[in-house]
Amino acid sequence: MSTNYDAIAREYQASKLLPWRKHFEAYTYFKLIGSLNEKSVLDLACGDGFYTRQFKLRGAAEVTGVDLSAGMIALAEEAERNNPISLNYICCNVTELKLDRKFDMICASYLLNYAHDIKSLNAMCEAIFQHLKPGGRFITINSNPDYKATINSLLPYGFTRENAGYNEGDEVTYRFYQPDNSFVEVTNYHLKKTTYERALIEAGFSEIQWNTMDVSPLGLGELGTGYWERILEDQPVVGLSCKKLL
Ligand SMILES: C[S@@+](CC[C@H](N)C(=O)[O-])C[C@H]1O[C@@H](n2cnc3c(N)ncnc32)[C@H](O)[C@@H]1O
Repeated sequence: MSTNYDAIAREYQASKLLPWRKHFEAYTYFKLIGSLNEKSVLDLACGDGFYTRQFKLRGAAEVTGVDLSAGMIALAEEAERNNPISLNYICCNVTELKLDRKFDMICASYLLNYAHDIKSLNAMCEAIFQHLKPGGRFITINSNPDYKATINSLLPYGFTRENAGYNEGDEVTYRFYQPDNSFVEVTNYHLKKTTYERALIEAGFSEIQWNTMDVSPLGLGELGTGYWERILEDQPVVGLSCKKLL
């Protein structure tokens, strides 16, 4: 059963403070994204706007965030009210998105892994293609289909990951631990890398590239190389990018 983020919006937000988010997830994501300068950006599955805000602060001309969860969008709008930087948010399923415009770049952290079969993945990829300008790139980070390590392998980083199996549509469950040792659980779905590639190609995308994750020099310096060995060896997250040709 896919996660209803309304019920865990604040707890999920807290999980973004763990060191691996900054030094592994965000570091690699921004490296893949490259220059945001003066670009119009669509941030799909934007959640509480964690990356939406950073896209604008890192130079994007304008950023629109889209998320299915009213609770997550409420947090994003709260941050925008407290500290306005002209962001737009829309509460909508990506598969039903029909904006009357296109963007220079589309980004998404943890969207495609909510597709439980090729049909729902096709619908997401088609919506992304429709909202991207020719020449634009789609950049995403996603649950890594190739992750095979044991459930508790990632516990040193504050979370666990369990694959119910490796068949199409099998559940992948993450538990993010809070400082008091309670946890929030989110569930997404396993699809093969070839299934992702097929859906992107069928939507019209080219130049599909998978990217392994890295740790920032700051993260290596602050926590030491030993700390990062396990997550670098068995990577729970993977980068993916592709292009809509002119
Ligand atoms: C793991 S959270 C990531 C949030 C944010 N991108 C981040 O990195 O902090 C996944 C988000 O995807 C949203 N989501 C899942 N399926 C979606 C869909 N079909 N359309 C729009 N949002 C979706 C959820 O509501 C949730 O906020």
